[in-house]
Amino acid sequence: MSETSTRHAPLSQRLKHETAPQHEQMHHLMEKAQPFSSRAQYAKFVAVQYLFQRDVEHLFDDPAVQAAVSDLSERGRATDSQADLNDLQAPVPQEPIVTQGVRAPEALGWLYVSEGSTLGAAFLLKEVNEKLGLNSEFGARNLAAYPEGRAKTWKRFVAALDAPELADVQDRVIAGALAAYGRFGQLLYTQFGLDQVTSSAA
Ligand code: HEM
Repeated sequence: MSETSTRHAPLSQRLKHETAPQHEQMHHLMEKAQPFSSRAQYAKFVAVQYLFQRDVEHLFDDPAVQAAVSDLSERGRATDSQADLNDLQAPVPQEPIVTQGVRAPEALGWLYVSEGSTLGAAFLLKEVNEKLGLNSEFGARNLAAYPEGRAKTWKRFVAALDAPELADVQDRVIAGALAAYGRFGQLLYTQFGLDQVTSSAA
């Protein structure tokens, strides 16, 4: 797959547009899962988040990921998710990490999905607070904004994605993002048992 640095739109724009159907699919799955209908349902969502965040944070060990994103220590929500599970008195799921073989540049696509999800999380946090009485200090830490705020932390990540060094590997980053969406979707299916109730899921 040959690419040139001048042919494409910025990577962040391509990611947004070329993974839009997968984002839409997350909405459909969340609709089916009804994660905010009770604290027990919500605990399943936190289990998904925990397992996904562990997969993503594993990638922080890759020196090429560290070189591309300089503020990794501020990112990731595995610890928050685990604390939420404890708040909810729900078990912490044990599963092997699925990103053992993933490296940059694909790893940056995984990180894109994780970091982008902090934007939509603002809406989910509001809903969890209204419906279940949880907040960013108890039960819903995994949906909280980073200390600096969602927009600022996101903009810095987008700038890292759009660095000239990544211009020639855009397709590989996008492939990583597609894989990450696939993983999150698969976790929703398994944690909520969706295939048992949705025989015609797209
Ligand atoms: C019902 C659940 C969800 C809702 C309501 C939602 C909502 C949103 C909204 C409103 C934005 C745009 C925010 C902005 O531009 O300021 C957004 C962005 C994003 N969301 Fe979601 N989201 C949901 C689930 C997810 C999930 C499960 C993931 C990933 C696993 C995800 C990944 C992303 C990404 C990567 C972006 C950034 C898109 C971009 O600008 O490049 N979302 N979401």
